[in-house]
Amino acid sequence: MPHIEREELTPEESDQLLLPGGRPPLWKHMESIGAVGLQQREGVPSCSQKGLPCPSDSSELVLECLQQFKVTQTQLQQIQTSLLGSMEQALGGQASPASTVRMLPTYVGSTPHGTEQGDFLVLELGATGASLRVLWVTLMGTEGHRMEPRSQEFVIPPEVMLGPGQQLFDFAAHCLSEFLDAFPVSTQDLQLGFSFSFPCHQTGLDRSTLISWTKGFRCSGVEGHDVVQLLRDAIKRQGAYNIDVVAVVNDTVGTMMGCEPGVGPCEVGLVVDTGTNACYMEEARHVAVLDEDRGRVCVSVEWGSFGDDEALGPVLTTFDHALDRESLNPGAQRFEKMIGGLYLGELVRLVLAHLAQRGALFGGCTSPALLSRGSILLQHVTEMEDPLAGAARVHAILQDLGLSVGASDAELVRYVCTAVFTRAARLCAAALAAVLSRLQHSREQQMLQIAVATGGRVFERHPSFLSILQETVMLLVPECDVSFIPSVDGGGRGVAMVTAVAARLAAHRRLLEETLAPFRLNREQLAAVQAQMQEAMAKGLQGEASSLRMLPTYVRATPDGSERGDFLALDLGGTNFRVLLVRVTAGGVQITSQVYSIPECVAQGSGQQLFDHIVDCIVDFQQKQGLSGQSLPLGFTFSFPCRQLGLDQGILLNWTKGFNASDCEGQDVVCLLREAIGRKQAVKLNVVAIVNDTVGTMMSCGYEDPRCEVGLIVGTGTNACYMEELRNVASVAGDSGHMCINMEWGAFGDDGSLGLLRTCFDANVDQASINPGKQSFEKMISGMYLGEIVRHILLHLTSLGVLFRGQQTQRLQTRDIFKTKFLSEIESDSLALRQVRAILEDLGLPLTSDDALIVLEVCQAVSQRAAQLCGAGVAAVVEKIRENRGLEELTVSVGVDGTLYKLHPHFSGLVAATVRELAPRCAVTFLQSEDGSGKGAALVTAVACRLAQMDHV
Ligand code: G6P
Ligand code: BGC
Ligand code: BGC
Repeated sequence: MPHIEREELTPEESDQLLLPGGRPPLWKHMESIGAVGLQQREGVPSCSQKGLPCPSDSSELVLECLQQFKVTQTQLQQIQTSLLGSMEQALGGQASPASTVRMLPTYVGSTPHGTEQGDFLVLELGATGASLRVLWVTLMGTEGHRMEPRSQEFVIPPEVMLGPGQQLFDFAAHCLSEFLDAFPVSTQDLQLGFSFSFPCHQTGLDRSTLISWTKGFRCSGVEGHDVVQLLRDAIKRQGAYNIDVVAVVNDTVGTMMGCEPGVGPCEVGLVVDTGTNACYMEEARHVAVLDEDRGRVCVSVEWGSFGDDEALGPVLTTFDHALDRESLNPGAQRFEKMIGGLYLGELVRLVLAHLAQRGALFGGCTSPALLSRGSILLQHVTEMEDPLAGAARVHAILQDLGLSVGASDAELVRYVCTAVFTRAARLCAAALAAVLSRLQHSREQQMLQIAVATGGRVFERHPSFLSILQETVMLLVPECDVSFIPSVDGGGRGVAMVTAVAARLAAHRRLLEETLAPFRLNREQLAAVQAQMQEAMAKGLQGEASSLRMLPTYVRATPDGSERGDFLALDLGGTNFRVLLVRVTAGGVQITSQVYSIPECVAQGSGQQLFDHIVDCIVDFQQKQGLSGQSLPLGFTFSFPCRQLGLDQGILLNWTKGFNASDCEGQDVVCLLREAIGRKQAVKLNVVAIVNDTVGTMMSCGYEDPRCEVGLIVGTGTNACYMEELRNVASVAGDSGHMCINMEWGAFGDDGSLGLLRTCFDANVDQASINPGKQSFEKMISGMYLGEIVRHILLHLTSLGVLFRGQQTQRLQTRDIFKTKFLSEIESDSLALRQVRAILEDLGLPLTSDDALIVLEVCQAVSQRAAQLCGAGVAAVVEKIRENRGLEELTVSVGVDGTLYKLHPHFSGLVAATVRELAPRCAVTFLQSEDGSGKGAALVTAVACRLAQMDHV
């Protein structure tokens, strides 16, 4: 951390530093009032040497005194860098060395929308020192005009500021009811925003623990306590009104949020009143204490305590040390004591007393008032410093302090005021520059354009404070384009905004929870799905009415490794149509494949067109692989529900997943393929087997792991197969051995058995699909539908005003515009929010960071339900196998494929967790299939060929 160096300056430099803006340099002034020869100071004999009365000595004294208040640009840069270092240290949660600035998250996550509406009570405590203010603020949203808040100020008696905490909060509650007694407002559900301007650890928008008092407050029994609870208790004790304290904010936050709509949003709030502090919108992921890596959060810097580790040593004057020693909190808030309005008057008093006691002012006379602490207030200094008020006012103030004011005294006093003020403004600028540099860092923006809301009586009553601050900020961070926006009515409106935001967020949170609650399935519901599926499996196997067709696949065994040969394989029904050459040798399986597209018009055209297209792809592949004219055994992965009558006979029951080619349902698709081959001269293909992609996946993984007896697909569609005991398969003869059953679980619930879980969004998606009423389970789980479910939820939340400020956009009303792959991207742990923004901005959606967080929660809820339902299905299957074999414990592997399962960051983990929960007696390993089901189809073909050879032997 760079140290702030002590610095010597040339007189010119020092004057420029001391008196920006037009007043003649002190030495010039001294000269003008006869303190001649200041300029000639170096080597020029002084007036005393000339035996004249020595104004120069007093001016020397004044100059030497005021020199202490000079802070050079280098020192300001060092303060800026040092404060920035402390800020980043505190943000990072670095414990040692402890940072002197606290960087307190405020739970305000967004700047006002301007849509905030309603009547709010605001209680301000601590911003303006010994007074508190109650306001009634009416927010009119975007349409309405600005309503002037009604407010009342109450002076806090000193004994209340220094007494027991309960007394202070009772005083506040009393002021609230006195205010409400005076104003006939409807006392229904009074929502209050509490502006509490002291350093607090916030743990929520309405939970805040006081760390330490500042600015003249010192009540007992409050530090370490939740001030919202203390206020709620006091309001209850008062018992006059039922007031709900909805939010507590720091005054800087109120100031930032009080920015006039349309000029902002202001993302920095800066207060210089009795105390000083700033807040700004930090990227949440940079705030270590918040385990949140998404969106922004307003951080209260609490820069008043900067330098409490002596870092400010070189720029602290003897007057600063004197003031600190006499203060209520010596050693603390050192930076604030150089800037805050509570201290500036005292600093001026200490300097004037010092100069008077050394004869440089007021003829060397002091007065009891001049020597008593707090006798010069901020008000006095601003008036004395005010260029318009002129010397007359200065005289009046000094005379009130019992001082006899000499000719030059008034001007010298004004120089003292200016020196103290100018330093305060420049130090404040250095601190603000540190905040702006931090924003550049956290947003990785070199060129930062930002609006800073300013609040506090130092700004209101001392116009040059802002101009000095602005000038200095431009010097220190020239690449930042900073606009300063005075906050209206001292942040009261801002606090009401936060309260409105809190109330809105709370209302939105309630609406979001209500909307997503049906997606949050509990263990009972999932166990019920598992049980219903097991029941439907048993019925389906027995050929009874069931939404699970439980189709025998005529695959009786998983590969045993003795398969050999070259095979062609087709893989139709997933995202891509692939033609594969699979070479099975002792050394393993080599696969060469090519992806071909199935245009929607072919998938939804005529069956002949579809199968001719398939054969064209095969021919193209054979040519490319130099296989033309060869008649290799072919395995056909056909990922649709087929009633198989044999390994190479499959009657298509119905299309799914957006396919709808005519004249296919009810047909043997192997025949359709052979007919298409027949139509294409000179192509000889030997179609040996047709398998479902679940079977192909199980076989493909079974080749590596013989315990793999379940195949699972979670891709465009979803389905599962498993090795069932032949004795349980009513439609196939034989009681021994196994038969792989294609469950076609996509249709589970088509009998209404999932009605309790079905949401209105599922109904919207189903009605808009080409097969309404069909594939209910699939439409709650698979990739073809999750994006659409999310889109419908987003439309619903937008209609409730929870999202996108209630603005429906054409784009979001477009079917399939919210791709399921967006869920995988949005839920990825690393860059989620930026992803969310990028994706949603591409969709032309105007979003805030709250919106982005809500979209993320919607995606999480939809994908979580899908994964849990899928897990409940797998639990039903493995439990069935375990019970089939009468085993206490079952160890089994599940071969899995499908884009959603493979690409979604959490899906596979949630499926496994649900299976562990619902089938604890099954040790299930999920094997992601590397080569897809094409390899599996080739292996099924290889097994069939081996069995056929054995039959011929
Ligand atoms: C792999 C398999 C296909 C299966 C698909 C399902 O690609 O080889 O047989 O149909 O996965 O996943 P998808 O996400 O493509 O629908
Ligand atoms: C407090 C801050 C407050 C500032 C301005 C400081 O003393 O610690 O919380 O924002 O004064 O009122
Ligand atoms: C089909 C199944 C297939 C699954 C996965 C479903 O739509 O009906 O046969 O296994 O999608 O691709």
